[in-house]
Amino acid sequence: MHLVDIDDLTAEELHAVLDEADRLRAAHEAGEPDRPLPDRTLAMVFEKPSTRTRVSFETGMTQLGGHAVFLGPDDIHLGHGEPLRDTARVLSRYVDFIMARVFDHADVVELAEFATVPVINGLSDDAHPCQTLGDLLTIRDRFGTLDVSVAWVGDGNNVCQSLALGAAMTDLDLTIATPEGYEIADGVRRRTLGLDSPPEETDDPEAAVADADVVYTDVWVSMGEEDEREAKLRAFEGFQMTADRLGDRPLMHCLPAHRGEEVTDEVMEGDHLAWDQAENRMHAQKGLLSWLAGQTVSA
Ligand code: CP
Ligand code: NVA
Repeated sequence: MHLVDIDDLTAEELHAVLDEADRLRAAHEAGEPDRPLPDRTLAMVFEKPSTRTRVSFETGMTQLGGHAVFLGPDDIHLGHGEPLRDTARVLSRYVDFIMARVFDHADVVELAEFATVPVINGLSDDAHPCQTLGDLLTIRDRFGTLDVSVAWVGDGNNVCQSLALGAAMTDLDLTIATPEGYEIADGVRRRTLGLDSPPEETDDPEAAVADADVVYTDVWVSMGEEDEREAKLRAFEGFQMTADRLGDRPLMHCLPAHRGEEVTDEVMEGDHLAWDQAENRMHAQKGLLSWLAGQTVSA
Protein backbone atom coordinates (compact mmCIF):
# COMPACT_ATOMS: atom_id res chain seq x y z
CA MET A 1 0.00 0.00 0.00
CA HIS A 2 1.38 3.40 -1.02
CA LEU A 3 -0.07 6.90 -0.67
CA VAL A 4 0.80 8.57 -3.97
CA ASP A 5 -2.52 10.40 -3.89
CA ILE A 6 -5.43 10.39 -1.51
CA ASP A 7 -7.59 8.15 -3.70
CA ASP A 8 -5.09 5.32 -3.26
CA LEU A 9 -7.17 4.89 -0.09
CA THR A 10 -10.79 3.83 -0.16
CA ALA A 11 -13.20 6.13 1.65
CA GLU A 12 -13.34 3.57 4.44
CA GLU A 13 -9.53 3.46 4.72
CA LEU A 14 -9.35 7.25 4.72
CA HIS A 15 -11.71 7.38 7.70
CA ALA A 16 -9.69 4.64 9.41
CA VAL A 17 -6.52 6.76 9.07
CA LEU A 18 -8.31 9.80 10.53
CA ASP A 19 -9.67 7.70 13.39
CA GLU A 20 -6.19 6.31 14.10
CA ALA A 21 -4.90 9.91 14.12
CA ASP A 22 -7.55 10.83 16.69
CA ARG A 23 -6.74 7.79 18.81
CA LEU A 24 -2.99 8.50 18.84
CA ARG A 25 -3.54 12.20 19.57
CA ALA A 26 -5.87 11.44 22.48
CA ALA A 27 -3.37 8.95 23.93
CA HIS A 28 -0.53 11.46 23.58
CA GLU A 29 -2.57 14.25 25.17
CA ALA A 30 -3.59 11.95 28.04
CA GLY A 31 0.10 11.38 28.81
CA GLU A 32 -0.16 7.71 27.81
CA PRO A 33 1.41 7.81 24.34
CA ASP A 34 1.11 4.77 22.14
CA ARG A 35 4.39 3.93 20.38
CA PRO A 36 3.45 1.37 17.74
CA LEU A 37 6.60 1.81 15.59
CA PRO A 38 9.65 0.97 17.75
CA ASP A 39 12.82 0.48 15.68
CA ARG A 40 11.00 1.56 12.50
CA THR A 41 12.64 4.13 10.22
CA LEU A 42 11.15 6.61 7.78
CA ALA A 43 13.34 7.95 4.95
CA MET A 44 12.33 11.51 4.07
CA VAL A 45 13.46 12.44 0.55
CA PHE A 46 13.17 16.13 -0.30
CA GLU A 47 13.76 17.74 -3.70
CA LYS A 48 12.00 20.94 -2.51
CA PRO A 49 12.12 22.89 0.76
CA SER A 50 9.67 22.19 3.58
CA THR A 51 8.89 23.33 7.10
CA ARG A 52 5.67 21.50 8.04
CA THR A 53 6.13 18.24 6.13
CA ARG A 54 9.67 17.70 7.31
CA VAL A 55 9.15 18.58 10.96
CA SER A 56 5.71 16.95 11.32
CA PHE A 57 6.94 13.64 9.86
CA GLU A 58 10.17 13.63 11.87
CA THR A 59 8.45 14.54 15.15
CA GLY A 60 5.62 12.15 14.39
CA MET A 61 8.02 9.24 13.89
CA THR A 62 9.75 10.07 17.18
CA GLN A 63 6.41 10.10 19.00
CA LEU A 64 5.53 6.73 17.44
CA GLY A 65 8.73 5.27 18.87
CA GLY A 66 10.58 5.25 15.54
CA HIS A 67 13.12 7.38 13.74
CA ALA A 68 13.25 9.55 10.59
CA VAL A 69 16.21 10.19 8.26
CA PHE A 70 16.24 13.47 6.34
CA LEU A 71 17.64 13.16 2.79
CA GLY A 72 17.85 16.57 1.11
CA PRO A 73 18.50 17.27 -2.56
CA ASP A 74 22.28 17.25 -2.12
CA ASP A 75 22.40 14.23 0.19
CA ILE A 76 21.58 11.31 -2.09
CA HIS A 77 21.82 10.36 -5.74
CA LEU A 78 18.09 10.81 -6.38
CA GLY A 79 17.62 10.91 -10.14
CA HIS A 80 21.16 12.13 -10.78
CA GLY A 81 23.97 9.62 -10.68
CA GLU A 82 21.52 6.81 -9.90
CA PRO A 83 18.13 6.01 -11.43
CA LEU A 84 15.14 6.58 -9.14
CA ARG A 85 14.22 2.94 -9.23
CA ASP A 86 17.60 1.99 -7.73
CA THR A 87 17.13 4.53 -4.94
CA ALA A 88 13.71 2.99 -4.26
CA ARG A 89 15.15 -0.53 -4.18
CA VAL A 90 18.07 0.37 -1.93
CA LEU A 91 16.14 2.54 0.56
CA SER A 92 13.65 -0.33 0.86
CA ARG A 93 16.49 -2.55 2.18
CA TYR A 94 17.09 -0.16 5.09
CA VAL A 95 13.89 1.63 6.03
CA ASP A 96 10.26 0.78 6.72
CA PHE A 97 8.64 3.76 4.96
CA ILE A 98 9.73 6.27 2.30
CA MET A 99 8.24 9.76 2.18
CA ALA A 100 9.19 11.79 -0.90
CA ARG A 101 8.67 15.41 -1.91
CA VAL A 102 9.41 15.77 -5.60
CA PHE A 103 8.79 18.10 -8.52
CA ASP A 104 7.60 15.64 -11.16
CA HIS A 105 4.68 13.53 -9.97
CA ALA A 106 5.94 10.68 -12.18
CA ASP A 107 8.96 10.43 -9.87
CA VAL A 108 6.92 9.53 -6.80
CA VAL A 109 4.94 7.08 -8.95
CA GLU A 110 8.24 5.44 -9.99
CA LEU A 111 9.50 5.31 -6.40
CA ALA A 112 6.27 3.54 -5.42
CA GLU A 113 6.56 1.11 -8.31
CA PHE A 114 10.03 -0.05 -7.30
CA ALA A 115 9.97 0.31 -3.49
CA THR A 116 9.08 -2.70 -1.40
CA VAL A 117 8.04 -0.53 1.55
CA PRO A 118 5.19 2.01 1.59
CA VAL A 119 5.90 5.24 -0.33
CA ILE A 120 4.12 8.39 0.85
CA ASN A 121 3.85 11.44 -1.38
CA GLY A 122 4.98 14.45 0.69
CA LEU A 123 3.98 16.79 -2.18
CA SER A 124 4.55 16.63 -5.90
CA ASP A 125 3.62 19.19 -8.53
CA ASP A 126 0.29 17.35 -8.88
CA ALA A 127 -0.72 16.11 -5.44
CA HIS A 128 -0.42 16.62 -1.68
CA PRO A 129 -2.38 13.80 -0.03
CA CYS A 130 -0.81 14.31 3.43
CA GLN A 131 -2.12 17.87 3.38
CA THR A 132 -5.60 16.54 2.60
CA LEU A 133 -5.45 14.15 5.55
CA GLY A 134 -4.49 17.02 7.89
CA ASP A 135 -7.17 19.26 6.37
CA LEU A 136 -9.94 16.69 6.79
CA LEU A 137 -8.86 16.14 10.39
CA THR A 138 -8.95 19.92 10.96
CA ILE A 139 -12.45 20.25 9.50
CA ARG A 140 -13.68 17.29 11.55
CA ASP A 141 -12.17 18.81 14.71
CA ARG A 142 -13.79 22.19 14.10
CA PHE A 143 -17.23 21.09 12.90
CA GLY A 144 -17.56 17.56 14.31
CA THR A 145 -18.35 16.33 10.79
CA LEU A 146 -17.03 16.48 7.22
CA ASP A 147 -20.46 17.55 6.00
CA VAL A 148 -19.22 21.13 5.61
CA SER A 149 -19.18 23.56 2.63
CA VAL A 150 -15.64 24.53 1.69
CA ALA A 151 -14.77 27.13 -0.97
CA TRP A 152 -11.35 26.79 -2.56
CA VAL A 153 -10.16 30.12 -4.01
CA GLY A 154 -6.83 29.89 -5.81
CA ASP A 155 -4.68 27.64 -7.93
CA GLY A 156 -6.07 24.28 -8.99
CA ASN A 157 -2.75 22.45 -8.59
CA ASN A 158 -1.35 19.98 -6.03
CA VAL A 159 -3.08 20.92 -2.76
CA CYS A 160 -6.37 21.66 -4.51
CA GLN A 161 -6.30 18.48 -6.58
CA SER A 162 -5.82 16.18 -3.60
CA LEU A 163 -8.48 18.10 -1.65
CA ALA A 164 -10.85 17.72 -4.62
CA LEU A 165 -10.36 13.95 -4.50
CA GLY A 166 -10.66 13.87 -0.70
CA ALA A 167 -13.90 15.85 -0.90
CA ALA A 168 -15.25 13.56 -3.60
CA MET A 169 -14.56 10.57 -1.31
CA THR A 170 -16.29 12.08 1.74
CA ASP A 171 -19.25 14.27 2.74
CA LEU A 172 -17.17 17.41 2.20
CA ASP A 173 -19.00 19.80 -0.13
CA LEU A 174 -16.26 21.57 -2.10
CA THR A 175 -16.56 24.43 -4.60
CA ILE A 176 -13.38 25.31 -6.46
CA ALA A 177 -12.85 28.82 -7.84
CA THR A 178 -9.82 29.13 -10.13
CA PRO A 179 -8.91 31.60 -12.87
CA GLU A 180 -9.24 30.28 -16.40
CA GLY A 181 -6.23 28.15 -17.26
CA TYR A 182 -5.54 27.16 -13.62
CA GLU A 183 -8.33 24.63 -13.10
CA ILE A 184 -7.72 21.13 -11.72
CA ALA A 185 -6.32 18.78 -14.37
CA ASP A 186 -8.77 16.87 -16.60
CA GLY A 187 -7.45 13.56 -15.28
CA VAL A 188 -8.09 14.57 -11.67
CA ARG A 189 -11.57 15.83 -12.58
CA ARG A 190 -12.32 12.48 -14.17
CA ARG A 191 -11.19 10.69 -11.01
CA THR A 192 -13.47 12.88 -8.85
CA LEU A 193 -16.39 12.13 -11.19
CA GLY A 194 -15.92 8.44 -10.49
CA LEU A 195 -16.29 9.06 -6.74
CA ASP A 196 -19.31 9.87 -4.55
CA SER A 197 -19.44 13.67 -4.43
CA PRO A 198 -17.30 15.50 -7.03
CA PRO A 199 -16.63 19.22 -6.39
CA GLU A 200 -18.28 22.09 -8.26
CA GLU A 201 -16.04 24.40 -10.29
CA THR A 202 -16.31 28.11 -11.12
CA ASP A 203 -14.08 31.03 -12.10
CA ASP A 204 -15.95 33.38 -9.73
CA PRO A 205 -14.43 33.61 -6.23
CA GLU A 206 -17.41 35.59 -4.86
CA ALA A 207 -19.86 32.92 -5.99
CA ALA A 208 -17.68 30.20 -4.44
CA VAL A 209 -17.46 31.80 -1.00
CA ALA A 210 -21.11 32.96 -0.85
CA ASP A 211 -22.49 29.80 0.79
CA ALA A 212 -19.25 28.46 2.25
CA ASP A 213 -18.69 27.53 5.89
CA VAL A 214 -14.91 27.66 5.35
CA VAL A 215 -12.65 29.23 2.73
CA TYR A 216 -9.33 27.71 1.67
CA THR A 217 -6.50 29.27 -0.31
CA ASP A 218 -2.92 28.45 -1.31
CA VAL A 219 -0.01 30.35 -2.85
CA TRP A 220 -0.31 31.57 -6.43
CA VAL A 221 3.33 30.82 -7.23
CA SER A 222 4.16 27.29 -6.15
CA MET A 223 7.64 25.90 -5.52
CA GLY A 224 9.33 25.44 -8.90
CA GLU A 225 7.08 28.01 -10.66
CA GLU A 226 9.27 31.04 -10.00
CA ASP A 227 9.70 31.67 -13.76
CA GLU A 228 5.92 31.96 -14.14
CA ARG A 229 5.61 34.49 -11.35
CA GLU A 230 4.58 37.57 -13.37
CA ALA A 231 2.04 35.68 -15.49
CA LYS A 232 0.51 34.01 -12.44
CA LEU A 233 0.23 37.23 -10.44
CA ARG A 234 -1.68 38.73 -13.40
CA ALA A 235 -3.91 35.67 -13.81
CA PHE A 236 -4.87 35.58 -10.10
CA GLU A 237 -5.76 39.29 -9.81
CA GLY A 238 -9.15 39.45 -8.09
CA PHE A 239 -8.62 36.15 -6.22
CA GLN A 240 -6.96 37.57 -3.10
CA MET A 241 -8.48 36.59 0.25
CA THR A 242 -9.24 39.90 1.91
CA ALA A 243 -11.02 40.47 5.22
CA ASP A 244 -14.08 41.74 3.30
CA ARG A 245 -14.31 38.68 1.08
CA LEU A 246 -13.71 36.25 3.94
CA GLY A 247 -16.23 37.86 6.31
CA ASP A 248 -16.58 35.79 9.49
CA ARG A 249 -15.78 32.47 7.83
CA PRO A 250 -12.69 30.57 9.04
CA LEU A 251 -9.79 30.56 6.58
CA MET A 252 -7.75 27.48 5.79
CA HIS A 253 -4.28 27.76 4.28
CA CYS A 254 -1.83 24.89 3.83
CA LEU A 255 1.09 27.34 4.30
CA PRO A 256 3.53 28.79 3.55
CA ALA A 257 1.46 31.95 2.94
CA HIS A 258 2.62 34.70 0.62
CA ARG A 259 1.09 37.73 2.31
CA GLY A 260 0.04 40.43 -0.12
CA GLU A 261 -0.55 37.82 -2.84
CA GLU A 262 -3.22 35.18 -2.19
CA VAL A 263 -4.00 36.53 1.29
CA THR A 264 -3.66 39.87 3.05
CA ASP A 265 -1.42 40.36 6.06
CA GLU A 266 -4.52 41.41 8.05
CA VAL A 267 -6.26 38.09 7.38
CA MET A 268 -3.14 36.04 8.21
CA GLU A 269 -2.77 37.88 11.53
CA GLY A 270 -6.43 37.18 12.35
CA ASP A 271 -8.21 34.11 13.66
CA HIS A 272 -7.95 31.27 11.15
CA LEU A 273 -7.38 27.55 10.94
CA ALA A 274 -3.92 27.50 9.35
CA TRP A 275 -2.05 26.81 12.60
CA ASP A 276 -4.43 23.97 13.49
CA GLN A 277 -3.93 22.58 9.99
CA ALA A 278 -0.17 22.71 10.46
CA GLU A 279 -0.40 20.85 13.79
CA ASN A 280 -2.81 18.32 12.34
CA ARG A 281 -0.32 17.38 9.65
CA MET A 282 1.58 15.61 12.42
CA HIS A 283 -1.45 13.89 13.94
CA ALA A 284 -2.78 12.81 10.53
CA GLN A 285 0.61 11.46 9.42
CA LYS A 286 1.03 9.57 12.69
CA GLY A 287 -2.34 7.99 11.95
CA LEU A 288 -1.21 7.21 8.42
CA LEU A 289 2.14 5.66 9.44
CA SER A 290 0.54 3.55 12.16
CA TRP A 291 -2.22 2.43 9.78
CA LEU A 292 0.22 1.71 6.91
CA ALA A 293 2.34 -0.45 9.21
CA GLY A 294 -0.56 -2.87 9.32
CA GLN A 295 -0.97 -3.09 5.53
CA THR A 296 0.92 -5.06 2.91
CA VAL A 297 2.84 -3.05 0.34
CA SER A 298 1.30 -4.74 -2.66
CA ALA A 299 -2.31 -4.24 -1.41
N1 CP B 1 1.93 22.67 3.73
C1 CP B 1 3.15 22.16 3.56
O1 CP B 1 3.32 21.07 2.98
O2 CP B 1 4.15 22.92 4.08
P1 CP B 1 5.73 22.69 3.88
O3 CP B 1 6.03 23.09 2.45
O4 CP B 1 6.35 23.63 4.89
O5 CP B 1 6.04 21.27 4.14
N1 NVA C 1 1.05 24.77 -3.95
C1 NVA C 1 2.14 24.92 -3.01
C2 NVA C 1 1.90 24.09 -1.80
C3 NVA C 1 2.97 24.14 -0.74
C4 NVA C 1 2.70 23.25 0.42
C5 NVA C 1 3.44 24.54 -3.68
O1 NVA C 1 3.46 23.55 -4.43
O2 NVA C 1 4.45 25.22 -3.49
